Amino acid sequence: MVSSKAFLAFSLKCLASFVTIQLSSCSVAAAATVLPAGNLEGSADAAMRINKMTDKLGPQLSQGALVYLSGSDKFDILTERWQLFAPPTFIAVVVPRCERDVQLTIQLANWFGLPWLAISGHHGSINSLGTFKLGIQISMESFNDINLSADGRTARIGGGTLSKKITDTLWAKGKQTVTGACECTSLVGPMLGGGHGWLQGRNGLSADQLIEARVVLPNGQLVTVSEHSEYRDLFWALKGAGHNFGVVIEVKYKVYDVSNNGGRDWTYANLIFKQDKLEAVFGLVNKITNNGEGDVAYIDFVWFQRVAEIDAKLPVVSVYMLYQGTPQKAQNYIDMYKALGPANITIVKTDYTQISSLTGNGNDGIACVHGEYSALRFPTGFKTYNLTTNRKLFNKFADITSQQPAFANSFFLFEDYSTRGVSAVDADSTAFPDRFNHHLISPVIIYFDSSLNDQAVQAGQELRKIALEGKSGPLNAYVNYAHGDESEEDWYGHEKWRIQRLKSLKKKYDPDNKLVYYAPIKA
Ligand SMILES: Cc1cc2nc3c(=O)[nH]c(=O)nc-3n(C[C@H](O)[C@H](O)[C@H](O)COP(=O)(O)OP(=O)(O)OC[C@H]3O[C@@H](n4cnc5c(N)ncnc54)[C@H](O)[C@@H]3O)c2cc1C
Ligand SMILES: *[C@@H]1O[C@H](CO)[C@@H](O)[C@H](O)[C@H]1NC(C)=O
Ligand SMILES: *[C@@H]1O[C@H](CO)[C@@H](O)[C@H](O)[C@H]1NC(C)=O
Ligand SMILES: *[C@@H]1O[C@H](CO)[C@@H](O)[C@H](O)[C@H]1NC(C)=O
Repeated sequence: MVSSKAFLAFSLKCLASFVTIQLSSCSVAAAATVLPAGNLEGSADAAMRINKMTDKLGPQLSQGALVYLSGSDKFDILTERWQLFAPPTFIAVVVPRCERDVQLTIQLANWFGLPWLAISGHHGSINSLGTFKLGIQISMESFNDINLSADGRTARIGGGTLSKKITDTLWAKGKQTVTGACECTSLVGPMLGGGHGWLQGRNGLSADQLIEARVVLPNGQLVTVSEHSEYRDLFWALKGAGHNFGVVIEVKYKVYDVSNNGGRDWTYANLIFKQDKLEAVFGLVNKITNNGEGDVAYIDFVWFQRVAEIDAKLPVVSVYMLYQGTPQKAQNYIDMYKALGPANITIVKTDYTQISSLTGNGNDGIACVHGEYSALRFPTGFKTYNLTTNRKLFNKFADITSQQPAFANSFFLFEDYSTRGVSAVDADSTAFPDRFNHHLISPVIIYFDSSLNDQAVQAGQELRKIALEGKSGPLNAYVNYAHGDESEEDWYGHEKWRIQRLKSLKKKYDPDNKLVYYAPIKA
């Protein structure tokens, strides 16, 4: 047990030796609230160190910043994640209010030998996160401002802001920008690994919208990173390999007028096919998306999933088609799918703010349920679909989900975003390595019982092996979907210069290897 009194004890005696970096000023001053602990869990040694650290930290944090130790109810809520597999474990959560709080937390954690990790949307899942033990979660939720610039072309957005808030806030002002499709993931989490989103066909990846970032480096130093700063090299790295380099406090980010960016209307169509139409469906997807040359207004996702109302025995092939335009304008595409004989059709005229929810990525949907299930992904990419392979994937998926009923909620995802805006950006200009595949695919193995972990990993690996047999060239595993069993090259690119560059940046900006938990680059 740690008494609250301990936190209020004002002790500065060690400060001079660990605060070596000039701290930025913070308008909010003094008297942080450090809440009383519950029963501190974890090793006695880590517990001792966290107590010493919070003794120092508490009195220096700004007003409104909070610290929760493990065992408290709020700690449990703040550390809940999207899925359960390979969790990082924490002994304290710091909720900073200003930049300086983040700097102090990092400096003190480093001093006391405690690992730390920034958390924004709680959807990070790569298994390397499971190597994070008994450390400090830096909860970025207070950094959630969205300030539109006077000229309306950029916004300054807090590093903990979630997608839905950005979409809704900008929409109210006639603006929009690229975020991940999921309403409950953050802007920054996906962006650091590239960030796919509905508008990428027009505007590029989330990372391509970044103009400037305020970043606390692993030594606690606060820097402003942009193309025109002395941290130009770091700016490159943030856009695809960003989890390795620091905590993003805030970004300056491109935004667009809805009226000049395809307009407000969207069409959502769900066409569910029985499995015998699989080849016809993927043949049509290949034709429409046309090697990345297709209509920028067109997006589809294809899912293999079990829908008993449609087929009691086998999974179905379900197409979620999105079109930026009215149903009249989308009719041509809808007719092409209709001609293949879907078993069920749903068409909704909607707008940009609703499409995440309609595709199951809304705050109200399964994608935003936290703390209930494990979900394992094993991604790879294709330029064009190989229909033989997709049939083999279907057969294997059908076997896995019938032989193990506990995996029956799993699905196999084929993401067919427009890639025009992504390929339009010079591939070498960012750390995001994969601007050439047009289709991002992954099984998502979902289950509730953690005793099935090994079986789920095996199922996912077997599926990905089949996918790889159907393409030439190496595995490209989108780092934000990666399982964690992939190589550095699979995450960050198979060109030698990319890995060399990242390794030298790692040595420069994280020489003590503090950020080694999310798809780590080994120095
Ligand atoms: C349902 C679902 C839908 C998804 N949809 C998409 C999609 O449409 N497009 C896409 O590209 N990806 C998508 N993803 C993947 C997504 O990019 C990753 O899961 C991402 O890590 C989520 O970030 P987060 O902030 O929500 O999670 P967190 O767990 O909070 O963050 C993930 C990691 O990012 C780092 N991090 C978080 N905040 C900061 C910060 N402020 N500064 C520095 N580092 C930070 C940390 O290393 C952390 O471990 C989806 C994932 C899920 C589960
Ligand atoms: C947004 O503007 C407010 C008021 O000027 C300011 O306090 C805040 O720091 C700004 N946030 C960002 C992310 O720029
Ligand atoms: C089938 O289509 C109808 C009408 O659009 C819709 O209400 C229903 O939910 C669909 N069924 C499934 C299983 O998606
Ligand atoms: C498609 O996949 C099959 C195996 O599933 C493979 O034999 C074939 O070579 C692949 N075709 C192409 C064009 O890669």
